[in-house]
Amino acid sequence: MTNPSMRDRLRAIRPPVNELAPFDTEAAASDPRELFEQWLETAITNDVSQPTAMTLSTATADGAPSARTLLLKDLTAEGFWFASLTTAQKGADLTANPRAALTFYWPEHGRQVRVVGTVREGPRAVSERDFLARHPTARARAMAGDQSEPLPDAGTVQSRMDAARHLLALTPDFVPESWAAFVVEPETVEFWQAADGHEESRLRYRRAGGAAGTEAGTEADTAAGTDWVRERLWP
Ligand SMILES: Cc1cc2nc3c(=O)[nH]c(=O)nc-3n(C[C@H](O)[C@H](O)[C@H](O)COP(=O)(O)O)c2cc1C
Repeated sequence: MTNPSMRDRLRAIRPPVNELAPFDTEAAASDPRELFEQWLETAITNDVSQPTAMTLSTATADGAPSARTLLLKDLTAEGFWFASLTTAQKGADLTANPRAALTFYWPEHGRQVRVVGTVREGPRAVSERDFLARHPTARARAMAGDQSEPLPDAGTVQSRMDAARHLLALTPDFVPESWAAFVVEPETVEFWQAADGHEESRLRYRRAGGAAGTEAGTEADTAAGTDWVRERLWP
């Protein structure tokens, strides 16, 4: 079965017609964090819509996948940070299987970044700081609800929200135990750049000494003074 009108409609879609930056993979930073910061900064300063939005992909212990959009909250020497409730689907997945992937897509720049790594819960102080910086309604909602569970009737939702707001009014610094900041400690970080005429480029960084081997005849290099091997991939 095919759906010709849908198929034609999808094929007719074109990417944004912005001028695409050249990607000089030879000159790329030896540390992926530096290159990521450059690309993120470009996305932020050039009005990419929601430049910190990223897809977090997780899987249960037996491999059932799940993915959702989150916001990047920080980028440190440890890795890429996000914050969420530990009690929802992603929290259960990460408890059973702490490996995860992040995907950023900045369409206006034809850029994608993929991160694969191990996820660790951050220190309590980081989780608390994140929670206290949230909008009061978002805080009340996180306290009132059971993220990812079926929504009860409107009256129950309202009374749980009222109770959460009341608790917040009494103790403005309250942070639920179930709110956590997590860091994805990267093992590989891959940068993909579109170019006119389908001349895309991919550059993958992987931690030196990691499991993935280097094929004979490829251009992998370990930049002096870093833990990262850089290699270009077929796009
Ligand atoms: C743009 C955008 C940003 C989001 N940011 C967050 C976030 O930072 N933390 C969060 O818990 N959920 C965020 N969400 C909601 C998640 O996508 C998801 O629905 C929720 O975390 C439940 O996921 P789970 O059931 O897989 O645990 C965001 C959704 C969108 C569309």
